[in-house]
Amino acid sequence: MRAVDIIMKKRNGESLSYEELSFLIEGYVSGDIPDYQMSSWLMSVYFSGMTPRETGDLTALMMRSGEVLDLSSLEGPLVDKHSTGGVGDKTSFILAPVAAACGIQVPMMSGRALGHTGGTLDKLESLKGYRIHLEQEEILRIMEQTGYVIMGQTERIVPADRKMYALRDVTATVESIPLITASILSKKLAEGAQGLVFDVKCGSGAFMKTREQASLLAESLVSTGKAMGRRIIAVLTSMEEPLGCAVGNFLEVEEAWECLGGRGPEDLMEISLTLASRMLVAGGICTDSEKALSLCREKIDNGEASRIFLENMEAQGGDVEWFLENTGRWRAPAGAVLEADRDGYIQSINAYETGMASVSLGAGRSRAEDPVEPHTGIRFLRKSGDFVKKGEAVCEIFALNKEQADNAVAQMEHAVTMGETPPAAVTRIIREIF
Ligand code: URA
Repeated sequence: MRAVDIIMKKRNGESLSYEELSFLIEGYVSGDIPDYQMSSWLMSVYFSGMTPRETGDLTALMMRSGEVLDLSSLEGPLVDKHSTGGVGDKTSFILAPVAAACGIQVPMMSGRALGHTGGTLDKLESLKGYRIHLEQEEILRIMEQTGYVIMGQTERIVPADRKMYALRDVTATVESIPLITASILSKKLAEGAQGLVFDVKCGSGAFMKTREQASLLAESLVSTGKAMGRRIIAVLTSMEEPLGCAVGNFLEVEEAWECLGGRGPEDLMEISLTLASRMLVAGGICTDSEKALSLCREKIDNGEASRIFLENMEAQGGDVEWFLENTGRWRAPAGAVLEADRDGYIQSINAYETGMASVSLGAGRSRAEDPVEPHTGIRFLRKSGDFVKKGEAVCEIFALNKEQADNAVAQMEHAVTMGETPPAAVTRIIREIF
């Protein structure tokens, strides 16, 4: 076989056999196939697409390019959630302990902030002592003890994706549904999950800007995952506005803790509990999503989920005492406030612009190698639909210095739109695919 023939076939719109895809992926990971040939193949896929069978084969080959976690000794269904990323998205910290309290085992491998979206690992690392690099024995021990683990991807998991994603990033080939499907699913399946819930976000702060694009991705994830024998549910959710009131690393963990105590913002509670309930359905704990939802609520109300959250923090090395002492208090030193410039209703808060303001505060990163600040960020005191009087505070900014704070206030002025009448109600949960 020759790589050039495989590239030509895909360029001409033909489908590739398992053997051809295997030759390409194995050859690329071993270094026999150079970047320039892989780039050309990726661009051919971008234009010609892939059949569902090819997408499944590519996913399986990528998954098997490295280590696959063996968590079969754990009791209880293994189910994870994956979000395509957004602004203020801290649902993992809420749904993982809730699902664990209901009997699900959650082996969650997460990522870091990049561009306007935040990263689960950066948020967890804002907690003193919390460790996200874990060995297989520790993963098993922590899951046995607390029912969930949130960890970073090791070098040994899906090396094909690490290499291919870096290449896609610089060759304008990220936005391809089959390539995104294989990239996301291969990593999730390598964790050993039997069931998966996808939160496919759409809107200004999402990777997929339109409902059409998000639906195509959700459908592809569901059909490919199901063809590989997994129970998959995708939920399309709106990411026009930041989720919840906090954007920033420590601020977001703190807000998740408020939700676990039953005091969280409505939008964040709704999305988190919907996703958690679908995890129970994907794991076979409940057959009915309404019953699953009330079971999840019960675990918040009876304090079990918040107890598990603290147990997990401790098991992963976090300093629980430090967290409880600092929650609601630990803030970057320079504060500023965005005030309403007139009386009126908040019409919208642009998620993308809020995400970019948080990057300028150092809470996110524009390049993969940049460090992040743990305690900078934005906290909304008012959200869309609220009536505010001139001079009333809309959001607080926590920055490293005054210049950074003033700059973020100017960015947030742009992100918040005011109007004289209440805005139309938003649909947060757009569609479900299973
Ligand atoms: N996230 C991933 O993990 N892979 C993609 O291809 C796109 C988003």
